[in-house]
Order: sequence, then structure tokens, then C-alpha cells
Amino acid sequence: MAVTPKSHYRIASIPADGIGQEVIGAAIEVVNALAKTLQTFTIEFEHLPWGTSYYKGHGRYIPEGALDTLRSFDAGLFGSVGAPDVPDHISLWGLLLAIRGPLQLYANVRPVRTFPGTHSPLKTIDERGVDWMIIRENSEGEYAGQGGRSHLGQAWETATEVAIFTRIGIERIMRFAFETAQSRPAKRLTVVTKSNSMRNGMVLWDEVALEVSKDFPDVQWDKMLVDAMTVRMIAKPYSIDTIVGTNLHMDIISDMAAALAGSIGIAPSSNLDPTRKNPSLFEPVHGSAFDITGKGVANPIAAIWSAAEMLRWLRASEAADKLMASIERVCQSGTLTPDLGGNATTTDVVDAIINDIYQFYRLPD
Ligand SMILES: NC(=O)c1ccc[n+]([C@@H]2O[C@H](COP(=O)([O-])OP(=O)(O)OC[C@H]3O[C@@H](n4cnc5c(N)ncnc54)[C@H](O)[C@@H]3O)[C@@H](O)[C@H]2O)c1
Repeated sequence: MAVTPKSHYRIASIPADGIGQEVIGAAIEVVNALAKTLQTFTIEFEHLPWGTSYYKGHGRYIPEGALDTLRSFDAGLFGSVGAPDVPDHISLWGLLLAIRGPLQLYANVRPVRTFPGTHSPLKTIDERGVDWMIIRENSEGEYAGQGGRSHLGQAWETATEVAIFTRIGIERIMRFAFETAQSRPAKRLTVVTKSNSMRNGMVLWDEVALEVSKDFPDVQWDKMLVDAMTVRMIAKPYSIDTIVGTNLHMDIISDMAAALAGSIGIAPSSNLDPTRKNPSLFEPVHGSAFDITGKGVANPIAAIWSAAEMLRWLRASEAADKLMASIERVCQSGTLTPDLGGNATTTDVVDAIINDIYQFYRLPD
């Protein structure tokens, strides 16, 4: 009988700053245990020391040739960038945005779910919790990096931040969003916009959404101004399934969505190049969390779920499903970090997930 070759994955690990170090270490430990237990794939993580310490030593966040280095991997697992003593726009543009744009990781996928054993802080969300899918345009819009400052220090000092919307950029993210909505049971998409006050870029956004929608007659879709969307998420959470929006709008909406689902500490994200020309990058939605760094209480689930999404993207869907089932069982059992109302440490959660993996998936001797 022919033996099916195992898939082998090489992953760039970039924990970077703050709790990024803690949660990426946790995710790697869990994924290594999963690989060892399932024996359906092998995985190798190579540590890349990019981040604020690297910046302080080298004057830059990533070395020359960093994008080519990343291209030699199957995917990347990223923690968070940002440190209290470096301005945030320097750290973010020095590392994360220096990767997302040039590698054209244009689709940022942010699933939002309430896990069993946890609950939303909101009264309008009952025991079913929420299950939303947020698609964020990740390569242009308000974070295109266009703009400048002049007349520094003068009373008439001027700064511009120009939002860029291109037909090609909008069309590809709309298509991705409609396909995502189509793949989910509800087949429902909300296109978030702000075309009442932003009368150029956002009007093009709406027009292209309408054009693309014609190719997806089975997807029920609507359009909503971003301000009204915040109200709807709170007042009518069950009217929502898949959401697509711009770089800035979904940056904000996805943090709120995570908090409504239970905690920012469980929210994962995938920075995808859907063409698969470049490796995709997987990271928790949260940042460096200065207030809890080094305390051992960061919730590792956002990073572990991001790693599960990475396995899914690498076509190890069965392993991803098994990892998600372990996370759910551990949440259900009440091993929760303080952000979810428990008193478990990061290590407690990691140990509980690894034990669950051994218990449920270990092959018979
Ligand atoms: N993708 C990224 O690299 C990224 C994203 C957001 C913020 N940042 C950076 O991180 C730094 C801090 O940003 P911030 O304070 O605005 O946002 P943050 O996400 O770091 O923290 C916001 C709040 O959420 C809590 N939190 C976040 N992750 C948690 C987890 N896993 N478990 C438990 N609680 C968690 C924090 O303790 C804090 O109270 C800044 O430098 C910012 O620029 C980076």
C-alpha cells in the first residue's frame, strides 16, 4: 500500500514585542504537541528576532531582504509590535505594515466567536453567543501611507492623511468577501461604508460592491454606514453574519466585535494573499498589552486560534478543526484567563490544551 507523504511546513515565527513573545511561544508549544500527536504533518518554526529590541540595536525593525526571507517560508506567525518607548507609528510602519503592503496580504480575515463556557458582556447576546466573520481590506484605504507634514512647528502646520481606494483593490476584497459569505451557512454579507461624508473613495467602494454582488445572486447583502453598524452590532447582533469594510473601519469594528464576543484575547486574524504568490501571515488581533506584559496572564487563545487558521490555510484543515475542538473543550471546562473572567495563567491554558490534545487524539500504542 502506498504511504501518503506527510506535509511538512516551515514557519517564520515573529513574536516581536510585549505579550507577543508570550502568546507566540504558547502557540508554538501547542502546535508542536498537535503535530507530534496527530502525526499527519510535521512543522518547523524558525525564530526571526524582528521587533523593538532589533530596532534599538540596528536602527530598523526588519533587515534588508526581509521580504525575501519571508518568501522562503510557507507562512508566518506574528505576535505584536509596539513598545512603550517607541512611537506607535514608527513601530507599526517599521514592521507589520512593512510586510502587509509589499507582500500584498490584502485580505485580513477576522472570525469572531463566543466560545462555550464563556459569555458576551452584552445583554442582547444570549447563550448562543456570536459567530461573525469580519473581512478587512488590508492593503490600501486609510492606511495607504499617503500624506505628509509641512510648516513644522508653525501655527499653520499642516498634516494630510490621504485615503486611497483603487478599483482593483476594492474589487478583489469585495470578491473575497462575497465568496466568504457564500461559503457560510447564512450566505449574508454587510458592506460597511461611509459614503455619506466620504464622497469619492467610499462612493467607488459602494459602486464596486454593487457590481461584484451581481456575480453572487445567492448571497443576501446590504450596505450600512459604519456609525450605524456599531449600533446594529449591539442592538441586533443576530442580524449580522459576514462583514466587509475598509482598513480603518474594520480595525475598529473588529476590536469591538471581539470584546462583544467575550474578549480581545481570543480574536485571531489571517493576513492573506489569496493568490498564494506570497506566504500569508497569521497573528492575534490584539497588541503588545503593556499593562499585562510579563505577568503570565495573557490569553493565548487568539494566538493559538491564529495558528489553527494558519494550518487551515496550509490545507491541514483536519488538524485545524481538531485544535479548535480542543480550545472549545478547555474553555468549556472553565480554564479561563482573567480577561474571560477566570483566574488561569497563560501556562494553565496551554497545558490544558496540550493535555486535551493528548487525551483525545493520541494514537493507540
Ligand atoms: N498587530 C499589532 O502588532 C498591534 C495591534 C494593536 C496594537 N498594537 C500595539 O500594541 C501596543 C498596545 O496597544 P493597545 O493598548 O492599544 O492595545 P492592546 O491590544 O495591546 O491592549 C488593549 C487591552 O486589551 C488587553 N489585552 C490585549 N490582548 C490580551 C490578551 N491576549 N489577553 C488578555 N488581555 C489582552 C490589554 O491588557 C489591554 O487592556 C501599542 O504599541 C500598539 O501600537 C500592535
